[in-house]
Amino acid sequence: MAFARTCSVALVGVEGVVVEVQADLEPGVAAFTLVGLPDKSLTESRDRVRAAVVNSGAEWPQKKLTVGLSPASVPKAGSGFDLAVACAVLGAAERIDPRVLADIVMIGELGLDGRVRPVRGILPAVLAAADAGYEQVVVPECAAAEAALVPGVSVLGVRSLRQLIAVLAEEPVPEEAPDELGRPDPLLAGLRVPGTGAATGMHSIGAAQHDVDHDLADVVGQTSARTAVEVAAAGGHHLFLEGPPGAGKTMLAERLPAVLPRLAREESLEVTAVHSVAGLLPPGKPLIDVAPYCAPHHSATMQSLVGGGPGVARPGAVSLAHRGVLFLDRACKTSGMKGLAGSAGRQCGAPRGLYGSLAACETSRARRYADGPGAP
Ligand SMILES: Nc1ncnc2c1ncn2[C@@H]1O[C@H](COP(=O)(O)OP(=O)(O)OP(=O)(O)O)[C@@H](O)[C@H]1O
Ligand SMILES: [Mg+2]
Repeated sequence: MAFARTCSVALVGVEGVVVEVQADLEPGVAAFTLVGLPDKSLTESRDRVRAAVVNSGAEWPQKKLTVGLSPASVPKAGSGFDLAVACAVLGAAERIDPRVLADIVMIGELGLDGRVRPVRGILPAVLAAADAGYEQVVVPECAAAEAALVPGVSVLGVRSLRQLIAVLAEEPVPEEAPDELGRPDPLLAGLRVPGTGAATGMHSIGAAQHDVDHDLADVVGQTSARTAVEVAAAGGHHLFLEGPPGAGKTMLAERLPAVLPRLAREESLEVTAVHSVAGLLPPGKPLIDVAPYCAPHHSATMQSLVGGGPGVARPGAVSLAHRGVLFLDRACKTSGMKGLAGSAGRQCGAPRGLYGSLAACETSRARRYADGPGAP
């Protein structure tokens, strides 16, 4: 029987669902069919996987090949299934022992040369695998630290399909040069598009650095405003800041994360999972353990605030501020505000969205007076 199966994970918002990847080889005209509700990028994995297998020195089976992703009812998107598909095919072709593959969860995109590339959402995917009782996961080497945050799971980080084949076949593991240092990560480059990244302040999540740079002690005077910030931090309340231009409203809001307690372990994993799905985890820092701060520009669209998009929905500013501070500067002018009230957090599956974060809004009294017809 030319059949093998292994596992991978489909993301639904920030939750993962373990997917069984089955490969079946039958005599017949060489063909490759992928079934089980794949999206366009996953359908394209047929070509990536074939090229990666051949360029890794393994033989591509010249038979009728069917790969099925189960449960078929869960929509599957993205390129993170490549590694599992390649190994299932090699298992069916008996290049790898199919029994070794059955209980391993594999997450990673394959380059045509066989290199294993990172994908968004490694942490929630590994959390889902652990919840489902799997104990072994294979991930891209650069995401191994992120995957290793999940307790009870043994993580293997690989640089290439060639290395993984060698490990699974118990052969000597070939050396692979690491990715060139300093080269921008295409994964992140694609996400930091104008309008959702730098321009909206969603890049400023480096909460640890933020903590160091912004201290409430910098604020001179403003005793009652500082007390209000402390009370909001202690009780997890929303805060509305109003005052003339230059009064220090932004300054106070920026210092709100500094007086919030460090995140508990569970909270850290939640926040890190959201950032992982957004592809915004700072390099070399797999765990976010301080309250995030997100300050979208007032021109930010509703989509960039509440998240969404085709395939795996991307978290918006509301979800990125989960367990931290969402600062809506010039809130009355924020064009996407209408969408916040009802749908916050739900579109991208964030556990609590807006309701899990402190919202600091600011408005300028002077501007309101200038705008209002009966301004005093
Ligand atoms: N209480 C204060 N202590 C120290 N510096 C202050 C204080 N208030 C204002 N500043 C200084 O003034 C600058 C402008 O403050 P900030 O941007 O917070 O004002 P704002 O109320 O947000 O103004 P706007 O309504 O124009 O947005 C700050 O960067 C800071 O240098
Ligand atoms: Mg301001």
